Amino acid sequence: MKTVCVMGLGYIGLPTASVLATNGYKVLGVDVGARVVETVNLGNIHIEEPGLHTVVKAAIGSGNLRASLQPEKADVYFIAVPTPLTHDKKADMHFVCQATEQIVPYLEEGNLVILESTSPPGTCRDLLKPILEQSGLRVGEEIHLAHCPERVLPGKILKELIENDRVIGGYDETSAQKAREIYASFVEGHIFLTDVTTAEMVKVIENTFRDVNIALANEIALLCEKLGIDFGDVARLANRHPRVNVHTAGPGVGGHCISVDPWFLVEQFPETARIIRLARECNDGMPAHVTRRILAMLEGVKDPKAAVLGLAFKGNVDDMRESPALEVIRLLHVEGVRVSVHDPYVKNSPIELEALDACFAGADCIALLTDHNDYKYLNPRQVAKQMRKTVLFDTRNILDHKEWCAAGFQVKVLGSGR
Ligand SMILES: NC(=O)c1ccc[n+]([C@@H]2O[C@H](COP(=O)([O-])OP(=O)(O)OC[C@H]3O[C@@H](n4cnc5c(N)ncnc54)[C@H](O)[C@@H]3O)[C@@H](O)[C@H]2O)c1
Repeated sequence: MKTVCVMGLGYIGLPTASVLATNGYKVLGVDVGARVVETVNLGNIHIEEPGLHTVVKAAIGSGNLRASLQPEKADVYFIAVPTPLTHDKKADMHFVCQATEQIVPYLEEGNLVILESTSPPGTCRDLLKPILEQSGLRVGEEIHLAHCPERVLPGKILKELIENDRVIGGYDETSAQKAREIYASFVEGHIFLTDVTTAEMVKVIENTFRDVNIALANEIALLCEKLGIDFGDVARLANRHPRVNVHTAGPGVGGHCISVDPWFLVEQFPETARIIRLARECNDGMPAHVTRRILAMLEGVKDPKAAVLGLAFKGNVDDMRESPALEVIRLLHVEGVRVSVHDPYVKNSPIELEALDACFAGADCIALLTDHNDYKYLNPRQVAKQMRKTVLFDTRNILDHKEWCAAGFQVKVLGSGR
């Protein structure tokens, strides 16, 4: 098992291909993007990830990594392509199907195929196996199939790729053992073997667990608003119980994992996955709630302007996929509010981003939507001088509210009825 073909050179595929190459495998990275292939072959990167450039450069320099638009014969094939949602909240598996179909002509007896993309439980058995068997080779007999889901955190991908524990699901025992062999070459965490559908379910419920717990926190926050008390106090004090861990409330859930994967289970089992659906709906409803509160703050203001701080779905990253801020901004526009947006990290935004001064100039309220550290260092007295009306809505509860009040701001907090 010395030659590897990695289908998809994004946040997961490129680090995996590079780490395998620096561990002695001959790796061909395949992507449908010509620019991606060209960039990687030059030893450069097309995505932002700390430390990745160094590893890609070393991998290309060693001659162990090449990129191409087409797959080639290999001992092991990794599939690390996107698994987004369709508009009607169904798993869009066409990238996975396409990538699998592309490797079929190259398959030979003894090959191993590893699906890394997060997929609905049953994908390997019901979707991949029939495609792979178009090669004339039987899965579990002549070729091997495994699912090894990724758990890395953007920003720490290279560290977590190596240090995290891994779950490997094999279509059969031999598939699992062969997949373990390849991961053991670079993984320092524990490797747990199981069957393929269990591994698929493990990944999807990891994100579902987080989504449901965030939904509970958001619902508690809404209840606190109605009760005229503060979610921050309630969560802090409840979490003094040794077996309670109330999560953080916020303006919604974004990113392409937590807000996406639970829908896979809702699609498959609509009658059973009821809490999961409700959690999704609760989290997806938060941007509308945030918008209603902003509109209440702007009531009576002529030609109102809101200064939105943060477009990314979470603090200190540039990723705005599925960000709740996008929906808040859209809804404010629908209501006729002028919106000025600032984000220190996001590049290539479809929404025009402005410098902080332009954002605050003549604004009637600030809506802080992303917990970027930069915002903790704002000087509220300076900010107040630029605004028409000094109202702050802190949906992440990260600012020093006493300081903002002292600077003349009326401070509102998500989850607080005070
Ligand atoms: N990014 C993360 O932090 C993360 C974490 C855990 C799991 N995942 C899962 O990993 C999978 C991949 O995610 P990602 O973030 O790397 O996606 P990505 O969008 O960064 O990269 C995917 C790449 O695959 C390419 N591609 C699409 N179809 C192809 C094909 N037929 N052949 C070759 N290349 C093709 C795209 O051009 C793209 O460059 C998804 O299922 C995702 O849910 C991602």
